[in-house]
Amino acid sequence: MTDFETIIYENKNGTGLITLNRPRALNAYNIQMRDDLYEILGAIRDDPGVAVVILKGAGEKAFCAGADLTEFLTAPPPVFARQARFERDVWGLFLSIDRPFIAALHGYVLGSGIEMALCCDIRLTSEDARFGLPETSLGIIPAAGGSQTLPRTIGRAAALDILMTGRWLDAAEAYRLKLVNHVIPRPRLIPEAEKLAEKIKSHPLPAVRYAKQAVTRGLDLTLKEGLELEIALGRRLANLSTD
Ligand code: COA
Repeated sequence: MTDFETIIYENKNGTGLITLNRPRALNAYNIQMRDDLYEILGAIRDDPGVAVVILKGAGEKAFCAGADLTEFLTAPPPVFARQARFERDVWGLFLSIDRPFIAALHGYVLGSGIEMALCCDIRLTSEDARFGLPETSLGIIPAAGGSQTLPRTIGRAAALDILMTGRWLDAAEAYRLKLVNHVIPRPRLIPEAEKLAEKIKSHPLPAVRYAKQAVTRGLDLTLKEGLELEIALGRRLANLSTD
C-alpha cells in the first residue's frame, strides 16, 4: 500500500485501487490531490503489473464534492486554473492510459468528482449518489475536461441541461442518461467493482487494452478513419500474439 497525503494506492493482484482520501472535506480535489493523482497515474501507466484500476472515495458521505472551494477563493480563478493545467495535465494523463478504469461512486459526486468519473471507462454507482456540476453557479466552467467528456458520454442536450442549470441528478436519472453503467446497493458497491475488475482480468490483457484504444481513439475520428484504426490495432494485436 502506498500512502500519499490525499490518496491511498494499493495493487491487489493486478487491480490498482485508488482511494480519494480527504473524507473530512468530502474528498474535495485540491492542489495536493492533483499532484498525488498525477504521480500515481504516471506510475500506473508505466507499471505492467496493473491490469485494471478502480477509483473510489473514502468515507461515508462522498466520492468527491468537487474542487476544493477554500483554494478557489484564495486565488484569482482563471489564472489559477490555467496555471494548474499547465503545471500538470492530470486529465490528459488519465485519458491516455490504455488500462480499463472503473469508477465506484457514492454519496456526493460533484464538479471534478463527476469529471474524474468521466475519465473512467465504466461507472458503478450506489443508490444514494447525487450528481451535479455546480461550476456555472460559481461563475466558472468545468476545468477537468467535463465540458468535453460529458457531452461525449450523455449527448449534447443532456450535458448542456446539467451544465447550464447546475441541477442535481439522483442515481436513477444518472443511469437513465447513461452517465453510469450500473446502480448498486451501497454495501455491494466495492465488491461489485472488484468482481467487474476480476472479470476483465480474466481476459487477455492486450486484447482489453487494444479494445479500449480502438473505442476511445476512434471516438475522435471519422468512421472511415476509425475503421482503419481498428484494422491497424487488430493487426498489431495479432502480431503480438505470434511474437
Ligand atoms: N471544498 C472544500 N471543502 C468542502 C467542499 C469543497 N468542495 N465540499 C465540502 N467541504 C467540506 C465542508 O466545508 C465541511 O467542512 P467542515 O466540517 O470543516 O465545515 C465538510 O466538507 C463537510 O461538508 P458539509 O457542507 O458540512 O456537508 P453537508 O452534507 O452539509 O453538505 C454539500 C454537502 C456537498 C452539499 C456541501 O458541502 C457543498 O455544497 N459543497 C460544495 C460543493 C461544490 O460547490 N463543489 C465545487 C464544485 S466546482
